[in-house]
Amino acid sequence: MWNKVQETVSYLQQKGFSKPDFGIILGSGLGGLVDDITVELSIPYDEIPNFPVSTVKGHSGNLILGTIADKKVIALQGRFHYYEGWSLQEVTFPVRVFKFLGAEKLIVSNACGGVNPQFKVGDVMIITDHINMIPDHPLRGENDERFGSRFVDMHEPYSLKMITKFKEIAKQQNIAVQQGIYLSLSGPTFETPAEYKMVKLMGADAVGMSTVPEVIVAKHMGMHCLGISVITDLGIEGMIEEVSHEAVQIAAKATGKRISLLVQQFVAEY
Ligand code: HPA
Repeated sequence: MWNKVQETVSYLQQKGFSKPDFGIILGSGLGGLVDDITVELSIPYDEIPNFPVSTVKGHSGNLILGTIADKKVIALQGRFHYYEGWSLQEVTFPVRVFKFLGAEKLIVSNACGGVNPQFKVGDVMIITDHINMIPDHPLRGENDERFGSRFVDMHEPYSLKMITKFKEIAKQQNIAVQQGIYLSLSGPTFETPAEYKMVKLMGADAVGMSTVPEVIVAKHMGMHCLGISVITDLGIEGMIEEVSHEAVQIAAKATGKRISLLVQQFVAEY
C-alpha cells in the first residue's frame, strides 16, 4: 500500500498536482460542485496508476485539481463504494493519496436516507458523528505506522471547528441546515422498513452506503474532516416510498446548488 500510494503521488506531482489545502469527495449527484472549482487539471481515473475505476452511473470518474477562491483543492468526481466489490482499502486509496500530496483537510459529501422525523427530502445535513455498520473495516490487517497508529482515536471524527464554521456560513447565507449522525451500511439494496427502523434505534439520523470508510482512513492519517449529506429520501415509518438510484440523483442534484454555495464559501473562508 505504501509503495502504491507513493507511486500515485509521484505520478500526480509530475502532472503538476501539489499541496492542496482541501481534499474533496463529491458524492452521488453532487458532482455539480465541480462547477465551482476553477479546474486546472482533470485526469480520468483509468489514467492514474493504482486508482480504482468507478462503475456506477452518475459517478463520473475524474481526479480534479483546481482552486476555489484562493484555496487549492483536489477533488474526486465520483467515489468508490464497497458494494461495487472494492475492498475498503481500495475504496479509501484516494484519501491516502490526498494526504500524501499534502492535504490536511477532507470534505466528504453524500446522498442518504433520513430516519429523523424532523428531516425532509432536500435537507442538507452536517455529519456530526458516524456509526460504521459496513461489515468490514478499512484498517483491518497489518498496520503501517507510516500512515498512522494501530489504534486510532475517534473522539472527534468530524472537526468541531469545521462544523462551527460551516454552520456560521449557512447562517450568513440564510440556508437552513440539519445536523446528525450518519450510519453506513454496505448496500447496494436500499433499506427495508425494518432496517430503517433499526438505523433509527441505533441512534442515527441518516443512512447511506459510503463516507465512513474514507473518514476512518483520513483520521488514521490525522486529517480533519467535514461531512455534508443531502437527504434524498426518507426512511420514516408511514412516509417510506419507493426509492431508486435515479430519484436519489435527482433529489441530490436539486440540493446541489445550495451545498455548492456553502462549500465554496466554506473553503474560501476556512
Ligand atoms: N439508504 C441508503 N443509501 C442511500 C439512501 C438510503 O435511503 N438514499 C441515498 N443513499
